[in-house]
Amino acid sequence: MKPIIDVLLTPADLAAALRADVVSGLSEPTGRRTLPPKWFYDERGSQLFDDITRLAEYYPTRCERAILEAHAGDIMTRDVSTLVELGSGTSDKTRLLLDAGTGTSGGLRTFAPFDVSEETLRSAADTIALRYQAAGLAVHAIVGDFEHHLGVLKEIGEPGRRLVAFLGGTIGNFDPAGRASFLSQLAAALAPGDRLLLGTDLVKDPARLVLAYDDPAGVTAAFNRNVLSVINRRLRADFEPDSFDHVAVWNDVEEWIEMRLRSTRPQAVLVADLALKVAFEAGEEMRTEISAKFRPERIFDELAAAGFDLSQWWTDPAGDFGLSLSCRLG
Ligand SMILES: C[S@@+](CC[C@H](N)C(=O)[O-])C[C@H]1O[C@@H](n2cnc3c(N)ncnc32)[C@H](O)[C@@H]1O
Repeated sequence: MKPIIDVLLTPADLAAALRADVVSGLSEPTGRRTLPPKWFYDERGSQLFDDITRLAEYYPTRCERAILEAHAGDIMTRDVSTLVELGSGTSDKTRLLLDAGTGTSGGLRTFAPFDVSEETLRSAADTIALRYQAAGLAVHAIVGDFEHHLGVLKEIGEPGRRLVAFLGGTIGNFDPAGRASFLSQLAAALAPGDRLLLGTDLVKDPARLVLAYDDPAGVTAAFNRNVLSVINRRLRADFEPDSFDHVAVWNDVEEWIEMRLRSTRPQAVLVADLALKVAFEAGEEMRTEISAKFRPERIFDELAAAGFDLSQWWTDPAGDFGLSLSCRLG
């Protein structure tokens, strides 16, 4: 069965959203400029992220996979008929859930991967549709932005039998206010009894955290600089990515990693499609991602505040990464 692909974000919508983010992020005064992390993920950025997940220093993927290996059967109970995956990327680890859901004790009928990166999503949806064809799994992929299009979840699957997976620690890309808004929009889009499987990276030794975001091989640096190439291509800008250094720092107060790009020299960049000229001083930094790390109580409190009732909490044996399963309250 070919996958169904719903495109909620057309190329024109994407272009408009990128323009808005670049105008607002780069028009900030020197030292306060930002770019949102969703723009990392063109085809090359998604490939680079995939490479990051295989790095020895990048423990979150391995740890989350170990938890899924141990508990996929507990998660994919027979009453789960639809698995939605937000920020699905290649859905690599998710195959553990799909295997359990389509196995003899599972009741999974539909998989709905949801991602902003259309090329990666299409390729993942095709691969999964083929792989689980014999098991009768329908694949319904959604090209969308989980900051804007969660309402579509109401139309997918049967109320009370949906499981939404949000893996990889991607929730850490929101600041606390953004997380609260995301979780309450998600709760509003779900029905009582629907479940949320949430992957969260945990607070640990800052040196390990920084290394995970600043690997010696420079893969994360290439991923970070890729956002400049995306802006160059899509908005006819003239960033020279090599004139920005990759920076990863631990913010002890907020308990998040910040990825930044630091201008190596004074330079002016023209974003031609926006008629926007931006001057960078030597050493000036622009923030491109936050990745919040959690303490379990914080996750539990935030889930409860959004209307989710925690049913299970698992970590990998070393306690580096946490996976929570919670249920949308009635
Ligand atoms: C850190 S990667 C995680 C990928 C995968 N879930 C994993 O666990 O390895 C984040 C994924 O979320 C997607 N993404 C980022 N921001 C998004 C947004 N606002 N809406 C939808 N997808 C988004 C990216 O394209 C990327 O595939």
